[in-house]
Amino acid sequence: MCGICGVVSNANVVNDLFFGIKQLEYRGYDSCGMAIINGKGLVAPKNIGSIDEVDRKEDFHQYRGNVGISHTRWATHGSVTQKNSHPHLSQNQQFAIVHNGIISNFRDLRQQLINEGYLFSSETDSEVFAHLMDRHYKLYNNIEEAIAASVKLVEGSYAICLLSVHDPKTLYCIKNESPLVLGIGEGTNYVASDFYAFVKFTRNAVILDDREIAVVSNDSYYVRNADTGEIKRKNIFTIDWSVETSQKGGYPHYMLKEIYEQPESLTKAFLTPDIEFTNFADILTKAKEKYFVGVGTTFYVAEYGKYFFADFLGEFCPAISSDEFNAIAKTTKDTAILCFSQSGETYDTLQAIKKVKDSGGKALSITNVMGSTMARMCDATILQKSGPEICVISTKAALSQMALLSFIGLEAAEKMAKISTSEKEKYVSELKALPELISKLLNERSGFIHSVAKKYADEFNWLFLGKGIYYAVAQESALKLKEVAYVHAEAMPCGFLKHGTIALIDEKFHSMVFVPHHDEECLFKHTMSSVEEIKARKGATVGFHFGTNVPEGLFNDQIVLPEETTKMQAPFIQLVAAQLFSYYVAYTLKRDIDKPRNLAKSVTVG
Ligand code: F6R
Repeated sequence: MCGICGVVSNANVVNDLFFGIKQLEYRGYDSCGMAIINGKGLVAPKNIGSIDEVDRKEDFHQYRGNVGISHTRWATHGSVTQKNSHPHLSQNQQFAIVHNGIISNFRDLRQQLINEGYLFSSETDSEVFAHLMDRHYKLYNNIEEAIAASVKLVEGSYAICLLSVHDPKTLYCIKNESPLVLGIGEGTNYVASDFYAFVKFTRNAVILDDREIAVVSNDSYYVRNADTGEIKRKNIFTIDWSVETSQKGGYPHYMLKEIYEQPESLTKAFLTPDIEFTNFADILTKAKEKYFVGVGTTFYVAEYGKYFFADFLGEFCPAISSDEFNAIAKTTKDTAILCFSQSGETYDTLQAIKKVKDSGGKALSITNVMGSTMARMCDATILQKSGPEICVISTKAALSQMALLSFIGLEAAEKMAKISTSEKEKYVSELKALPELISKLLNERSGFIHSVAKKYADEFNWLFLGKGIYYAVAQESALKLKEVAYVHAEAMPCGFLKHGTIALIDEKFHSMVFVPHHDEECLFKHTMSSVEEIKARKGATVGFHFGTNVPEGLFNDQIVLPEETTKMQAPFIQLVAAQLFSYYVAYTLKRDIDKPRNLAKSVTVG
């Protein structure tokens, strides 16, 4: 979603404000802007386009000031126009605000304010907050009280940072259901929607909780509850991500860098203490209803979990896309959910957790961001330690989640006597061998995958076929191709094909087949039958397979994966190969790989 940065300092803040939104550009990139208080009042340059494009139009660096806010937008309410870009100013230009989230009752508030004589210059929900500040400042003559009075009227999710000519040395902010963190530096303090914005300058951070107002000057800050006025003591925590890991390090794109980081990110995930897997396995095995929950890529991680649990525990544990969770999931005090989220801030997944918590059930999560809302809401969280994932497309975070979920599944299977301890140890050691196997794949197959991707880059319609756990891999792989290359790919279980979709097949239609590991005889056999059905209708096929038992000439093209791969490792290896395929198709088509159109990294609105 949108990225927010605020800086207050004894020096000029414009460079840090600019750097902050550049770091947050992955959260939204259709327009951006800044508001700075300088000697003469408030200036607020903003425009549409990427941050560099807007900088060329507006020349941010011509301004100077000691306090400012900046914003990079992912449009929700109101199209992509200069007027809808943030910051928004109050009518008399005394307040400037930036907002992330959605003010759900903005239509009513807007009408009330219009009736009172306020003129709106944008179509956004956010602008109401600027005018509410003006209205309440006139009543209370105090900015904190004006914020408290304004948020009493506002419904929805919001992270808001504001400044005012009435107090030109201070930043104010408030949040509800959208993340906001303070960065505590020396002579300079920061506010941001995540700590990438300021980790280069300080690693000391304070996480704001819902309905907390923070008042931040260059050398101090305090936080109070917006409803009770009570001053809150906040812990400062140290961010353990280095600046270097959030830089491209010679790779042309973050996506490629992050694909290549997977051996390392898996190794870090494997450092998770066993006790955490045992705890998760205990909670899940005791629950009457259990669900795996995620959305987008993390829904496919949940799908992987569904097949894994069916295979190793013989238990059906539904995977539910978090945006549908509240509509279909029965939750009680005996429910447990395991959620997956790179950011730990995804609105839909947080709503699913809320539903379970409200029913008295247990919520567990695997997430990549310490201190995230999800980590704080859940009964227990495993931090996957993948390091920053900057590309909007998720790769390394999802792969680590699959591995951690497998550890939990094996722990639960052993606990339920579905597998012996020695079997568990064998599978664990296969998982732990993944970093080496993936490195081998990346080193030895990347060039070939590039050539296949180049050959097929102009095919704009694909079926991605899988069966069993390989269907989960096919779904995630199809999402990768859609989002990074803008190529349509529909994932489908092999067996489903003949019930209708096979009508599409002719010599021009392409299918990508995720061939199961040969040890999965039944899955393997059925997948092969589907390929034959496609071939009988002259359909073109590309296969990802492990070499064994695949007849020569079956596929038009094939990506043969390391033969020593075991059944446990196979979905991981296929997924990494498919990530590379999508990357190289997008590369051939010259797509904006790290920031695909219309996307935002962390979807914090419903
Ligand atoms: C796809 C992608 C999205 C996210 C989804 C959930 O590459 O990145 O589908 O997986 O928006 O985000 P998190 O994992 O932050 O909860």
